[in-house]
Amino acid sequence: MKIVFATNNAHKLREVSQALGDTFTLVTPRECGITEDIPENEPTLEGNALAKARYIRSRTGLDCFADDTGLEVEALGGEPGVHSARYATDGHDDEANKRLLLERLADKENRRARFRTAIALIDGDGEHLFEGIVEGRIAREEHGADGFGYDPLFVPEGEERTFAQMSAEEKNAISHRGRAVRLLAEHLRGGKR
Ligand code: IMP
Repeated sequence: MKIVFATNNAHKLREVSQALGDTFTLVTPRECGITEDIPENEPTLEGNALAKARYIRSRTGLDCFADDTGLEVEALGGEPGVHSARYATDGHDDEANKRLLLERLADKENRRARFRTAIALIDGDGEHLFEGIVEGRIAREEHGADGFGYDPLFVPEGEERTFAQMSAEEKNAISHRGRAVRLLAEHLRGGKR
């Protein structure tokens, strides 16, 4: 079954294809001829995921889903949250984002944080939302070279390693996105296709 996933991020695409399995062939916006950036200006993760999915649906008419993820840090009142991509600059600069996060937490004992993913699916039945959360903490320095974004700083609960020190399979098994995608997959498999 073909479905459009509203991302051009190769890391995310790999993670989500792995978590969804072989039944689904993911198509990117670029493969549908959509080359412009899809707007993400809503105040919530759910709002952004829905906005992206609606955009793709209106341009392609195809079943599609979009995700939006935020890193919510307790000692920072839930920031960067929905602003995670543009935390330090307008340019989605992962290195600057990680530096700023470490700076803001430098004098904080409480390192608790969680990743939260919202996935919005639009299919023949309408709009559906799925959520995935992983609790953890922010390390004092970066560890590991795999993954992307804040992965080298995030240690999931019950682990000593960061996401960037894990294989894609290990990360998917416990991650925010893995959890949200498994709910999405359940819904799609339970569907009428
Ligand atoms: P978005 O969902 O692509 O908008 O991601 C928001 C921000 O969170 C970006 O800075 C991403 O790099 C970061 N991010 C999203 N998912 C992950 C993840 O699984 N690990 C680490 N960082 C992530």
